Amino acid sequence: MRKIAMMVGALVLGTAVVAQAATPLETVEARKANFKKIGGAMKASGDTFKSGAPDAAVLKANAAIIAGFADQVPSWFPAGTAVGVGKSEAKPNIWTDKAGFAKAAADFSAAAKGYKAAADTGNVAAAGAALGKLGGTCKGCHETFRQKD
Ligand code: HEC
Repeated sequence: MRKIAMMVGALVLGTAVVAQAATPLETVEARKANFKKIGGAMKASGDTFKSGAPDAAVLKANAAIIAGFADQVPSWFPAGTAVGVGKSEAKPNIWTDKAGFAKAAADFSAAAKGYKAAADTGNVAAAGAALGKLGGTCKGCHETFRQKD
């Protein structure tokens, strides 16, 4: 029994060590990859509107991708991962204006969920309106917290 408990303990510890092992560079690269997926889903959503015959299924699928990230954004920005790490464009004010960044992330989260809810109904016009609102939250955060080159 005791041996098993120790083994389980070692396993849990092992997992914790792995979770902390991401270097600042890995963190930056992982979050950029996630933002790229979000960007791709936004583009695909916009493109189906531009086609002139918006496809409700495309909207639904892409809204689900974005909503899947809705609550993760703050966790992608541990201290020590600002501009200077790899090709990061994360401005230092993310960590000095914590309340402002948290609000920008919360606005995005609410709008992402709003887009998913609208897209899930199959009502293309409602999804379009929610998509526009969501786009505003990307822009809002980028203007303040993302470095322009
Ligand atoms: C709460 C703030 C915030 C929100 C909301 C946000 N972003 Fe970003 N985004 C950032 C920051 C900061 C970076 C720079 C990250 C880095 O380079 O380390 C970034 C980077 C990106 C990138 C560049 C990724 C790369 O490869 O360099 C894309 C694309 C992107 N965001 C798309 C979006 C889209 C689309 C939305 C809205 C649906 C969005 N973002 C919402 C803060 C945000």
